[in-house]
Amino acid sequence: EIIPWSIEDAEKGGYEHFMLKEIHEIPRVIDDTLSEHMDREFDLGYDKFVFVACGTSYHAGLIAKHVIEKVAKLPVRVEIASEFNYHPPPERATYIAITQSGETADTLEAMRLAKKLGNRVVTIANVLGSTATRIADETLFTRAGPEISVAATKSFISQLIVIYVLAFKLSNRIDLLNELEKISGEVRKILDNKEDIEDVAEILSKYRNLMYVGRGIAYPTAMEGALKMKEISYIHAEAYPAGELKHGPFALLGKDMPVIACVVRDETYEIMLNNIKEIKARGSFVLAISDENDEEIEKYVDHVVKLPAVNPLLTPITQSVALQLLAYYTAKLRGCEIDKPRNLAKSVTVE
Ligand code: G6P
Repeated sequence: EIIPWSIEDAEKGGYEHFMLKEIHEIPRVIDDTLSEHMDREFDLGYDKFVFVACGTSYHAGLIAKHVIEKVAKLPVRVEIASEFNYHPPPERATYIAITQSGETADTLEAMRLAKKLGNRVVTIANVLGSTATRIADETLFTRAGPEISVAATKSFISQLIVIYVLAFKLSNRIDLLNELEKISGEVRKILDNKEDIEDVAEILSKYRNLMYVGRGIAYPTAMEGALKMKEISYIHAEAYPAGELKHGPFALLGKDMPVIACVVRDETYEIMLNNIKEIKARGSFVLAISDENDEEIEKYVDHVVKLPAVNPLLTPITQSVALQLLAYYTAKLRGCEIDKPRNLAKSVTVE
């Protein structure tokens, strides 16, 4: 029997959706992007950075702030591009526009304004020759390859890789660069053991709302996890810093509001466990994303997805891949059109 394949099926390389194929490309994309930047010297001008971006790329900027301020001890601001024009920072800085497509109108506008005000403008972009690369004084290329699925997956991870290399080089942290070089292998382990994530998606797919929480570096990871979930599964998902729940969102907790807790085994761990106890006491189902060496966490939550243990600073990579898979399987169980979600476009060229 001849099984008819369309060109699109062929391009999906045997995967049911581009999104799943692109998630599986992540280990290779990490290595390609690392090889692009490992041996280069970064001279970005000012030792003050302002990241501007939209959507998923904005979340990469939030992670950049955490890593650069913590490791390289240099001040970083992060601005949503569409808001930037109303209050451009008064001080000169190096602006880093993060954009997969290089064509997002709001991001391009922010870049033009930053340039007009006399700043140095760099872009982290995935499309060479795109408008962003033409406006920028310098391009840091992410080698994610073409991304077809509207929801950004591999491009987000490739942006993080550029940011880590930049931060670790600025601070001469060869030890961290060495750990980064091993991260693709850790991601491969997640992809090889994704059945657990598929199982828990079954539980989440039945809810109408989801709350994601994190602390420190896991807060932007939680934000990106929630964005991925709402984009493709249409479940209302929002992210909160775990410590902020008591200032309002506690009122939402209970059996209709499951919580996905992104747990990192750094200085935030103990207080995060306390936050999880507070959430459980209010009756929510709790799914924790932690690592394989965490033996405490299962005592407090309903389900744990255990990921390979990596340096806490690198958990946005491992946790984001897990959260991408979680969104993917949840959307699949809900019968959503994963690669082309309603009302969304891959590249938004209007302001
Ligand atoms: C659109 C896409 C998002 C993306 C955002 C920014 O909204 O649907 O996935 O994160 O644009 O895109 P960019 O190409 O600038 O990274």
